[in-house]
Amino acid sequence: MAATPPHRAPRFLQRHVADSAAERAEAQAALLGRPARASPKYFYDRLGSHLFEAITELPEYYPTRTEAAIFAAHGEAMAQHAGVGATLIDLGAGNCAKASRLFPLLEPARYVAVDISVDFLRDALARVQREYPLLDVVGLGLDFSHALDLPEDLATGRPVFFYPGSSIGNFTPAEALAFLRNIRAQAGGGGLLIGVDLVKPAPVLEAAYADALGVTAAFNLNLLRHLNRLIGSDFDPARWRHVGLFNAAESRVEMHLEAREDLTVRWPNGQRSFAVVERLHTENSYKYRVDGFAALLVQAGFDAPVHWTDEQGWFAVFWAGAA
Ligand code: AVJ
Repeated sequence: MAATPPHRAPRFLQRHVADSAAERAEAQAALLGRPARASPKYFYDRLGSHLFEAITELPEYYPTRTEAAIFAAHGEAMAQHAGVGATLIDLGAGNCAKASRLFPLLEPARYVAVDISVDFLRDALARVQREYPLLDVVGLGLDFSHALDLPEDLATGRPVFFYPGSSIGNFTPAEALAFLRNIRAQAGGGGLLIGVDLVKPAPVLEAAYADALGVTAAFNLNLLRHLNRLIGSDFDPARWRHVGLFNAAESRVEMHLEAREDLTVRWPNGQRSFAVVERLHTENSYKYRVDGFAALLVQAGFDAPVHWTDEQGWFAVFWAGAA
């Protein structure tokens, strides 16, 4: 009989409990605002997640491939800062692909994949465990945009936080600072590896968020269907137009849905009328300058950060140590 190989199994901890009544109330209040708003978290139902994956393959959407090239070119230097044997905490892990590409260099002792629901992580973490049988693999269901508090028993080992993809851009700079402070408070002895999209000419930014094939338009419009299921509204995507624009004064790309005609949206306990060309604001994606983001990291309490960028200076990956 063959000897049983050493192996472990992923652990799963679901900390976030969905409160759908509170979510519905929040979504309705946002729709009634001036201007009307909807959180970008509503992009990501099943279809929306597929559409986002399609976006990352578009020629106009440079962030994903630019960041991947930076990791490929500078992964070794990053690993020298992050060190081997860490507890790697992957915020918004999804399919765990970005982090697992760094495993050969980072050689983490423990991998904590964080996403809103552990159900999104099960398949990916089973694959990770198969490939790295001795790695301590944990799936953590946490809404880290609200509160990032890691369970006590995971706090052993040197923490290295991983937040790629420029998802930090969905926070306002003030929210980003609070979020970074929160990470800093839990990163003692380790640090943070984070991807950040940079300011660049408006036509490049606008093409990335209003592509020729209309994939980003579909991604944006699909939010209306998700809202219809969530609050029972009757949004008709055909009556709305996708808008993606760079707001230079705020240093952010904005996505909106613009009413093509005067219309009224109804749901069980409310309604909202939109005049033609009135907008529903669905996303902000803040763009930083290298110096500005480095200053934010220092303000959050990290040590002097280092960064790597691409030839065009379109995207940056920062390492910020937390002594
Ligand atoms: C996932 C928030 C990083 O802001 O570029 C892509 C989302 N929105 N196209 C981004 C998104 C429109 C994306 N993030």
